[in-house]
Amino acid sequence: MFTHAEIKQYQDAGYCFVRSLFAPAEIDRLRSTAKSDRELDAHAFGRNDGEGGSVRLSLWNHPGDDIYGTFSRNRRVVDRVEQLLGDEPYHYHSKMIMKEARTGGAWAWHQDYGYWYENGVLYPNLCSVFIAVDPATKENGCLQVLDGSHQLGRVTHLHVGEQTGADPERVAAATAILRTVYCDMAPGDALFFHPNLLHRSDQNHSAHDRWALICCYNARSNSPYKEGRHPAYTPLVRLEPGAVMAFNPTLTRGGTDSFVSNTVDRETQTISGQ
Ligand code: SIN
Ligand code: MN
Repeated sequence: MFTHAEIKQYQDAGYCFVRSLFAPAEIDRLRSTAKSDRELDAHAFGRNDGEGGSVRLSLWNHPGDDIYGTFSRNRRVVDRVEQLLGDEPYHYHSKMIMKEARTGGAWAWHQDYGYWYENGVLYPNLCSVFIAVDPATKENGCLQVLDGSHQLGRVTHLHVGEQTGADPERVAAATAILRTVYCDMAPGDALFFHPNLLHRSDQNHSAHDRWALICCYNARSNSPYKEGRHPAYTPLVRLEPGAVMAFNPTLTRGGTDSFVSNTVDRETQTISGQ
């Protein structure tokens, strides 16, 4: 669980690292499954990054009885999120960010709540958990966060390439006064971050993949007031911390059946992202 000091760090800075939240053997299982998962690959979509590259990700709304669910439903994650939200968390969606060696695209500065606001979510009482699947370094386009930027409140978001990014004028003013932190992470490290925290990442010109699993949670009391891209309150059945290693693929009922495709954006014509 988070200590008082860690909760204060999250409240002040907008993020908190938990190093080695998952052990090497656990994250190895996730990485080897994900990188040979044809379904995950088939549901992946790309989006122009506005810098000549393309980001690639797979996104699903409900956690399945699969290896991904042993992370997103894991008490090591969900119980901590509950401390941060001060309310019961439910799974809002998860996504695998497949930032490939040499070709992986950049992410423009944005706040997750910049998107989620458009989905009828009233309060910024959500939390994203970035779990490093591969090592993330400055060279392979690790996440960058703007320290304390969640205190700006929600910033207007505009189209940047095929992505939606925070208003560049405001970002320039904010980056001039706030510290940009490069989130160097080892596999199994986790970063819990606030939905109004400004974050971005560079293209991956290195020879090393930078995949990450990002699990996003909303507070039960903050269920969207209208139908949107991601679900309303749905009880989340938590799994014990040992669930990853206890997971037996031959005994499962099946994986996620709720992939979200990029076409939803086009159909609804809203300014939306992930
Ligand atoms: C995201 O914000 O959803 C992805 C950012 C990244 O993986 O660099
Ligand atoms: Mn984001």
